[in-house]
Amino acid sequence: MGFAKWVSLILVLCVFDPIPIFSDSTISSPSDFLNFAKKPELFDWMVGIRRKIHEIPELGYEEFETSKLIRAELDKLGISYKYPVAITGVIGYVGNGKPPFVALRADMDGLPVQEMVEWEHKSKIPGKMHACGHDAHVAMLLGGAKILKEHEKELQGTVVLVFQPAEEGAGGAKKILEAGALENVKAIFGLHVQHNLPLGEISCKSGPILAGSGFFEAVISGKGGHAAIPQHSIDPILAASNVIVSLQHLVSREADPLDSQVVTVAKFQGGGAFNVIPDSVAIGGTFRAFSKEGLLQLRQRIEEVVTRQAAVQRCNASVSFFENEKVLFPPTINHESLHEFFLKIAGEMIGRHKVKEMQPLMGSEDFAFYQEHLPGYFYFLGMENKTVASLETGHSPYFQVNEDALPYGAAFHASLATTYLFEFQQQVSSQEAKYHDEL
Ligand SMILES: *[C@@H]1O[C@H](CO)[C@@H](O)[C@H](O)[C@H]1NC(C)=O
Ligand SMILES: *[C@@H]1O[C@H](CO)[C@@H](O)[C@H](O)[C@H]1NC(C)=O
Ligand SMILES: [Zn+2]
Ligand SMILES: [Zn+2]
Repeated sequence: MGFAKWVSLILVLCVFDPIPIFSDSTISSPSDFLNFAKKPELFDWMVGIRRKIHEIPELGYEEFETSKLIRAELDKLGISYKYPVAITGVIGYVGNGKPPFVALRADMDGLPVQEMVEWEHKSKIPGKMHACGHDAHVAMLLGGAKILKEHEKELQGTVVLVFQPAEEGAGGAKKILEAGALENVKAIFGLHVQHNLPLGEISCKSGPILAGSGFFEAVISGKGGHAAIPQHSIDPILAASNVIVSLQHLVSREADPLDSQVVTVAKFQGGGAFNVIPDSVAIGGTFRAFSKEGLLQLRQRIEEVVTRQAAVQRCNASVSFFENEKVLFPPTINHESLHEFFLKIAGEMIGRHKVKEMQPLMGSEDFAFYQEHLPGYFYFLGMENKTVASLETGHSPYFQVNEDALPYGAAFHASLATTYLFEFQQQVSSQEAKYHDEL
């Protein structure tokens, strides 16, 4: 056996050393949490909640019915909460009411997508759908809360349950922070379901995992006229076309090739007839980077390139970055020490070979706002079961959740929070002991 194997064997042995978290010993390890969460009574309860929420998708900051349903379940569980926080948000508390505090987050919003999946619990709201799995995220966090509540007396601190609005672009996480809901919280954990990762597997990584992002829209104005007499017009279509080409040079010529960035123009609206040069053209899109500096730099250069390139063709341009409605998302960066902690729990719960290293993506998550303020960890939970069906990607009108993933989410939530509080207290008492020895 080589050295590396010895080291990994030792690591495995350490990981599987059972830590008695609860003294009643019904649950003493992360895998016990998973078995508990798979019990039919808990599983069926989560499935029921997820289906109810799936039928009534609500967009960001409009999650009133979803929020009401969550509060009704928290009431039944005897879990206290604050409401409203950030318009529709709910913040629940399980534990002894004392520090340390650790937070678990679920997003509640649906998308402006017409559901195309024909099934019993199809969205009842035309043009709206839970196409990103946030209905499952809510059910998982309620499942985790139920497990935690059943062991509340043994929690060594307080778990803060964050049901946040408006993940899809409108920065609900930012509003939760601004409401002061996470003051004194030591760490926060969040998850997202993943359609193409096998059920029972996890994908995770330390450091940057998702890009920061922003949106822009520009109106390029010229002077409309007859398409056959261009000399009497100022053509905004040509100017906008040159703007789009120039914008592509920001990433290819100005960004560090080793620092991934994206600028995409995804919207181009202008003109309506074959023989009329229009007055103006609107273009819009998104920009992405893995650092806040990269994002701010892109934002500044997009504005300069649009206005100056438009001026080359005698057009005027104005650029909007939606400062109020669509906020600039920071990159999602997982805290290094929480990564080690997470790997230990995940390895114990599902086996280390099912914990996959994630490839960073240019997508973004508003969970990143939390991580700007406190150590946070975001991970992906597999849902794919090829023997049943292959699942469509998030935001597709054909998106489906594999409900067999619900117990995994609930078990991860409960296990991470419980162990985090337990280990935090252990560290505090060992530090105190050291302090007394030194005295
Ligand atoms: C651009 O703005 C200037 C200053 O407001 C104005 O004089 C000019 O007519 C505008 N040009 C176009 C093409 O709109
Ligand atoms: C996949 O689904 C089938 C049918 O429901 C089930 O028997 C099997 O256990 C599932 N696989 C996993 C990994 O849960
Ligand atoms: Zn989404
Ligand atoms: Zn999502």
